[in-house]
Amino acid sequence: MAQQVATNITWHEQSVSSEDRKKLKGHKGAVLWFTGLSACGKSTIANTVDHMLHSLGKHTYLLDGDNIRHGLNKNLGFSPEDRTENIRRIGEVAKLFADSGHLVLTAFISPYRADRDAVRELLADGEFIEVFVNASLETCEKRDPKGLYKKARAGEIPGFTGIDAPYEAPEKPELVLDSDNKGIDELAQEVVNYLDEKGYLTL
Ligand code: ADX
Repeated sequence: MAQQVATNITWHEQSVSSEDRKKLKGHKGAVLWFTGLSACGKSTIANTVDHMLHSLGKHTYLLDGDNIRHGLNKNLGFSPEDRTENIRRIGEVAKLFADSGHLVLTAFISPYRADRDAVRELLADGEFIEVFVNASLETCEKRDPKGLYKKARAGEIPGFTGIDAPYEAPEKPELVLDSDNKGIDELAQEVVNYLDEKGYLTL
């Protein structure tokens, strides 16, 4: 965990509360944390869920791995330490969005269980929904939309997740999506159904 470095800082209570913000939006705030191997379908499914929820009039925001690494986290690489810092920052940003009453979707490999658990700890009970996008390495390698597995196998990307860097699958995710056997729309609908059944889409 990152240490508090600054001193002489004071926490200020905000006069518009998180509850006030949620009331305006008409639904709960939460973080849908998609995790899985590169090319497992996380970003595509999260994008589709985002679109479905938006069409239902829900307030959402999508934080996507490759995009965030172009901005907020452009100074981070793929060492274990950098991946941990990547997830820590995303967790903090996601918490802010959830606090403002958004349904936040994040799509990062987030290979380390301890890093994902640390984000869970940041959030209130029920506000962290871990979505394991389960596709075998074989499936991901066959898809290889960015040609990265091919490069990794050729030794051109050292420390590539699933090849020579670990992926620790969740032990008790709220949702498991079978991305080996089901299509994007069906899996996205499973996520929306979960949110609906658990009462996230209303106050
Ligand atoms: S994480 O491990 O820190 O959570 P993140 O989701 O942000 O990773 O970024 C993963 C994306 O970066 C992959 O989809 C892929 O496009 C690219 N990438 C580049 N190098 C690597 C690597 N060594 N391991 C995994 N993904 C990589």
